[in-house]
Amino acid sequence: MIRHSFGPKTKLIHGNPHNEDHDLNSHSFPIFQTGSFRFNSVVEGKCIFSGQSHCDAYSRVSNPNHRFLEERLCILEGGQAAQVFDSGMTAIKVLLMSLLRSGDEVVAHRSLYGGTDALLRDLARFEIKTHFVDAKNPQNVFRAVNEKTKLIFLETPSNPILDICDFKAIKKEFLEQDEDVLVVVDNTFATPCNQQPLKHSVDIVVESLTKYLNGFGNYIGGAIITSQDLMAKIWERYHASGGMMDPETASRISTNMMTIYDRMACHNQNGEIIARFLYNNPAVKRVYYPGLPNHPNHKVAVKLMKGFGGVVSFELKNEEKSSTFLDQLASDRSSGKGIISLSVSLGSVDSLICCPALSTHLSLTPEERVNQGIDNGLIRLSTGIENVEDIIYSLERGFGSIEGGENC
Ligand SMILES: Cc1ncc(COP(=O)(O)O)c(C=O)c1O
Repeated sequence: MIRHSFGPKTKLIHGNPHNEDHDLNSHSFPIFQTGSFRFNSVVEGKCIFSGQSHCDAYSRVSNPNHRFLEERLCILEGGQAAQVFDSGMTAIKVLLMSLLRSGDEVVAHRSLYGGTDALLRDLARFEIKTHFVDAKNPQNVFRAVNEKTKLIFLETPSNPILDICDFKAIKKEFLEQDEDVLVVVDNTFATPCNQQPLKHSVDIVVESLTKYLNGFGNYIGGAIITSQDLMAKIWERYHASGGMMDPETASRISTNMMTIYDRMACHNQNGEIIARFLYNNPAVKRVYYPGLPNHPNHKVAVKLMKGFGGVVSFELKNEEKSSTFLDQLASDRSSGKGIISLSVSLGSVDSLICCPALSTHLSLTPEERVNQGIDNGLIRLSTGIENVEDIIYSLERGFGSIEGGENC
């Protein structure tokens, strides 16, 4: 008989049955809502605490619901080890604080989520310097690297202008030069359904589970996925740090994550349709979407990605009308005439829209925003998986408001 190999969706849903270590025979994996676990003897407790035995002792350190989720993240990303945290920012903080020390340097892409940008800048207090470069061109990264550089931090596609960085080419160069510089990719926007950096020798993936991986806008979480060796290094410094996910959240995110392949297929499709709709709209000056052939790094995106996700950013020709446009959408959502919520975050099944300069990237100075390419009137739309004609209808009502058209 031909050996059958299970497909990615099946592997994600079923995980490895041998690892699901509970003997209750429940069909779905139960929530282990407990702070600590019983030892059968003092010796057993000692073995666990000394690391000789890998059993759960205390839920701040590990819990079966964490492992259930971590195993699936490894399956999705093609990693050997994963660690979940109570938010994406905790995952990034733990990663940086565990791998860097005073005197080290980081090279980061200049367009990043505002929280990550602020955290990297704050590391200067601990004498860890970050060089922000335009990593869309790998040569800029190579030029900024010196003997103190320990880590390259990329976010691709980036928040909010969807820059694409060629992590494959960047890591290849370091491998060829035999240089020990870790390449980290924040894979939140792409998700492992669209791109798997670890499979291209990238060292570490971080992601906010709050977005597509959970997918319903109702839980916050984050994760680091990497090799066993690197995780051991991270863990050595951070096992007592706190910031862990609670068991119930881990269970809810695990359940929601099981539908990610189908959700992402729909997000990718709606994202592309909406990007073209906006591109052809006379009121729109510029559209940012890696799936559009005129995106500056479209060819790199095609090489690295299977789909381009649901986030589309754009600028109106008349920047001053951005607020009117967004207010119309907000009031339509409240009255039931439209379906797009004026809200931060992204990657939810329902469509969300915001103005980054006035929300997610407000903490940057105006100069920093200009340097990152964030226009004051930039609008970021996270297309949901609703019927795409309804997303278009809702946007058209917004455009109607700035043209002085009628809104019924
Ligand atoms: C690309 C990216 N990385 C990390 C984060 C932080 O994740 P969290 O909000 O789960 O802490 C965000 C949040 O928006 C993000 O967009």
